Amino acid sequence: MQALHFGGDYNPEQWPEQVWADDVELMRTAHVNLVTVGVFSWSRLQPGPDEFDFGWLDRVLDLLDDAGIGACLATPTASPPPWFTRLHPDAMPVTRDGIRLTHGSRDTYCVNAPAYRAASTRIADALGARYAGHRALRMWHVHNEYGTPCYCDHCATGFQVWLAGRYGDTDALNDAWSTDFWSQRYREWDEVLPPRVTQYLSNPAQVLDYRRFVSDSMLRHYIDQRETLRAASRAPITTNFVLGGWVPVDHARWAREVDVVAIDNYPSSVDDHLTERAFAADLARGWARAAGHPDGRWLLMEHAPGAVHSGGVVRALAAGQAREAALTYLDRGAVGVMYFQWRASRGGAEQWHPAIVPHEGAAAPIFQEISLLGAELAGRSPTAVSAQVALIFDELTMWAWQAPHVPSRDIDYEKMAYRWHGVLGGAGSAVDVVPVTASLSGYRLVVAPALYLMSQAVHTALRGYVLEGGTLVLTFASGLVDDCARVTPGALDDLIGARIVRHTPLLSDETVALAGTDAVGRRWFDQLEVTDARVTLQTADGAAAVIEHRFGAGLVRYLATDLDERQLLDTLADVRKGSAE
Ligand code: GAL
Repeated sequence: MQALHFGGDYNPEQWPEQVWADDVELMRTAHVNLVTVGVFSWSRLQPGPDEFDFGWLDRVLDLLDDAGIGACLATPTASPPPWFTRLHPDAMPVTRDGIRLTHGSRDTYCVNAPAYRAASTRIADALGARYAGHRALRMWHVHNEYGTPCYCDHCATGFQVWLAGRYGDTDALNDAWSTDFWSQRYREWDEVLPPRVTQYLSNPAQVLDYRRFVSDSMLRHYIDQRETLRAASRAPITTNFVLGGWVPVDHARWAREVDVVAIDNYPSSVDDHLTERAFAADLARGWARAAGHPDGRWLLMEHAPGAVHSGGVVRALAAGQAREAALTYLDRGAVGVMYFQWRASRGGAEQWHPAIVPHEGAAAPIFQEISLLGAELAGRSPTAVSAQVALIFDELTMWAWQAPHVPSRDIDYEKMAYRWHGVLGGAGSAVDVVPVTASLSGYRLVVAPALYLMSQAVHTALRGYVLEGGTLVLTFASGLVDDCARVTPGALDDLIGARIVRHTPLLSDETVALAGTDAVGRRWFDQLEVTDARVTLQTADGAAAVIEHRFGAGLVRYLATDLDERQLLDTLADVRKGSAE
């Protein structure tokens, strides 16, 4: 029986060695079996450009191994040491508005700076060579939460090369980026720059491509380290994904490059934290499945023990909530639940962050709570989850919705996905939250709300799914642009069996009265000319609000406005009945 991973980030270098033995003893009490070590240890491991000091890490790993505790051993590249900064000022990140950041926090690097890339591979190589054979080693944890963008000159050069690879010549780039708008036609690659701060609105295609480029640049940094470690070690290799609209990482693509999809999850709402966790879990499982791991197994690499922290405030959760949080992840296919962090740091930037062993010590309630949970989970193995329903959540679409100029600022793509996830889950289904690149054929129902950006490949895939008998729910604000952020009028008409003749984003106090119900439509209204569909819900003045279209062997339901939860549920119940016929 495969045991669950249970543990968290362990930063022993912050403590005198006498504390380490206590730590390991307490870990045994708490049934901890895996700790992430070394995430921010670069300045200890490599105190100078040509000096390495592994003695302390040897002793930590030996102690862990003696206690039967495994190590998820990190490469420390998320926080380069001060000597590196001084030697390579060009490797510090530059913000959109041109400010070169200085050392003093973490993530002060540019993944496109040659010196940083070389230094990263070197430390990864040294760790691989030294610890590949260590008995404590269970897994490699490359870097930490990739997501730091940079707009420096190294990035500019890298971007030009990346664009040349993607488009071939500048004519194709000009076409893709619609550069005749505002006289942006490029003749030479080196005229093209990152989307740094400019006078007014940026070009949305440039912004979108820059995110793709940043994601690919970071991925190359990850792969360099992965290959270095792989040459020395057979242990699984991963990196911890951080979630959120600000993260310039195409996780669906990255999921194919890790041995196990691992995410960090820090919900922001005390009241709704379980809902946020459920979404994150179903998303991690969806990424894993779409990346070719049919069992959908994934690992929760970090979450806060018994607390939710948001906007600088740390709120302890009520007793029992840490357990509920863990079970929310485990019931959704996590192969382990890990925390940040094991022992609270007395000083440093995150000294008030919750920990399993808080400042008050192991007598504190949180340690007791986590220990009881550890004991409970010790006998449990990972849960297999099968889902017949998928919710499409597309990070490219999320990015596209952040463009400087969109039809409505009132569409919060993430919130919309959360709502649908809640409705689908509330209807009693296990829901895989999947990227648009996932194979959909195994799902009975696929819901894709506000899928603003649709490439030709996505159009083809959705049609293929429905033609073969799938049931697809689409909403307003979908298929409006292609993968270069160019408007694609009429792109969905054949699929939904209607022509969308006018989009009307609504103001926050505007509603659409619906026939036969006191529920109303909000946020948006599409005026439809129905060609081949059946109207299943009308507005009070007789316009189509929800339509249904038989397409091949399948069914498409289109919502022209945003409905409330009850109405969404009705729509789904109805569609499901339809698909079961
Ligand atoms: C994560 C990060 C950890 C720690 C934690 C708490 O995002 O990986 O190193 O900073 O947040 O803030």
